[in-house]
Amino acid sequence: MNKPLQSTVLTSPGAATAPAYQSGFGNEFASEARAGALPVAQNSPQRVAYGLYAEQLSGTAFTAPREVNRRSWLYRLFPSAMHPPYRQIASALLGTAPDAHAQTPFNRLRWDPVSIPDLPTDFLEGLVTLATTGDAARQDGCAAHVYAANTSMRRVFFNADGELLFVPQLGRLELFTELGRLDVVPGEIALVPRGMRVRIALPDGPSRGYVCENYGMALRLPELGPIGSNGLANPRDFLCPVAAFEDSTEPCELIAKFGGRLWSTTLDHSPLDVVAWHGNYVPYKYDLARFSPVNTVAFDHPDPSIFTVLTSPSERPGTANLDFVIFPPRWMVAEHTFRPPWFHRNVMSEFMGLVHGTYDAKAEGFLPGGVSLHNCMTAHGPDAATFERASDTPLVPEFQSDTLAFMFETRYVFQVSAHALASPALQADYDACWQGFRRGAA
Ligand SMILES: [Fe+2]
Repeated sequence: MNKPLQSTVLTSPGAATAPAYQSGFGNEFASEARAGALPVAQNSPQRVAYGLYAEQLSGTAFTAPREVNRRSWLYRLFPSAMHPPYRQIASALLGTAPDAHAQTPFNRLRWDPVSIPDLPTDFLEGLVTLATTGDAARQDGCAAHVYAANTSMRRVFFNADGELLFVPQLGRLELFTELGRLDVVPGEIALVPRGMRVRIALPDGPSRGYVCENYGMALRLPELGPIGSNGLANPRDFLCPVAAFEDSTEPCELIAKFGGRLWSTTLDHSPLDVVAWHGNYVPYKYDLARFSPVNTVAFDHPDPSIFTVLTSPSERPGTANLDFVIFPPRWMVAEHTFRPPWFHRNVMSEFMGLVHGTYDAKAEGFLPGGVSLHNCMTAHGPDAATFERASDTPLVPEFQSDTLAFMFETRYVFQVSAHALASPALQADYDACWQGFRRGAA
């Protein structure tokens, strides 16, 4: 078991101290913000130190196999059960699968970056759903959202519908979770497990990025097969927080997303009151610069699955409910090989975003903060300008430095939300980038 690296006690979000972390993926972690708060050799003693309440948060069925079983024990000032009834509130542009108003045009779609709002907007208010698939109630599928916000949350939020994968593109996110704080900058990702409470502060002000809501099996590291025991995302580069809590009697609004609706209640204390915890159901962050890409050293362009950071398996072997794939800075070198992504049609559906720089399959139009959606069996690949350039460029080693694109890829067809299809950010001329190819000479 990992011992706590450091104990941290906070009484307000955004406190001056930088968060401390423990490293590893799927480990049994432990941390206490008050010495002696963590029970030893027992999960639920008759009386917990300091009069704390013991509470288990289960992320998998009790009987899930040991290697995938996820749960944490939380020792807190008040039990989570002590809350008034929730009441449903408006969920604005936040959608969930199945979305009765969604449509599925058989077209390739691309959006410009969403604008930073002028009015004060917190993370939850600024969260907009572009696409959904599957069924949250059946714990299958996923949703792809973007956010644009400028104000730190005062309220606290949790998502009973799925885990949340954050991909910031602009501005830092400070995630104050029940298990402690994560500080996340563009180029990093973070994950908050299903059901875990979080308050999201924006220390840099205007912020933008992407969120994938995974209804299916929790994201995990992919198997490495013939690659061996190292490479891609290494477990020790994943960081989870140390215990931190708020001891506050200020009224605090607690929002739950459940069944695609938002529900609100108000507590007479902070819900971020976990003084100590242990377990393997934890929030985490990961610096995508730590990803160790594996690629060809001779010829041809392997499938993009070589860039899988995290995967949510489905019951169909090798066919993910959700893959999180990145296209990071890397050497582009191979003999007599077309280097950009090839033309293809894919049974899987691809939602792509760009954190910074350019993406090597597109000359223009795919902007940092923007989105492209290539659904099942839609034909796509390099645009005409990229094809011409890449067909003639000298094949010498080249380091592509200013690039960080990513993909949420799913076995299911994405349904596009009504407001995403009506959005002025939807590019009307995306198909034009694949016009102008010359006929083959046969
Ligand atoms: Fe593709």
